[in-house]
Amino acid sequence: MATLEILKYPDPRLKQESVEVEHFDDDLQRFLDDLEETMGDGPGAVGIAAPQVGRFQRIAIVDISSKPKLVNHGRMFLINPEIVEWDGLAVGREGCLSVPDYTGNVVRAERIKLRYLDRDGNEIEIDTEGYEARAVQHEMDHLDGMLFVDRVVSRRHDLFRRKHYKQRGER
Ligand code: NI
Repeated sequence: MATLEILKYPDPRLKQESVEVEHFDDDLQRFLDDLEETMGDGPGAVGIAAPQVGRFQRIAIVDISSKPKLVNHGRMFLINPEIVEWDGLAVGREGCLSVPDYTGNVVRAERIKLRYLDRDGNEIEIDTEGYEARAVQHEMDHLDGMLFVDRVVSRRHDLFRRKHYKQRGER
């Protein structure tokens, strides 16, 4: 396993759209292990997407189980994920390994029905909500070349410098 280098905003490669995975081979399994290790390296990261390490395929990992009180499905390897239904809107704070200096307030669907392939290529469908649904939507944005900073309504009012944010003890 290896830790991969994370592309940081404003690297233009973060705007690239990713393509679907077609082969569930050894190369994919090795990559998933490396991506998992890279996520584990990030402080408190709840997700990571393949394009953040320069691999432009529709792959992400989401795991919010470090916050056990919230609805969660454990560690999910999301391959070719699709949101097939959504409902409700909510504002919440997000951070990103590719945008280490900022957090931001972003509007997301509150509840989603998610369809994806797991790391063995099995089709899975789940319903999720709240923070896990938010993390999934954040990671799926990466697959379309979008960052949370592209989604904030006002960069002046909805983006927060991390240092400032931590000093105020809001975290
Ligand atoms: Ni991110």
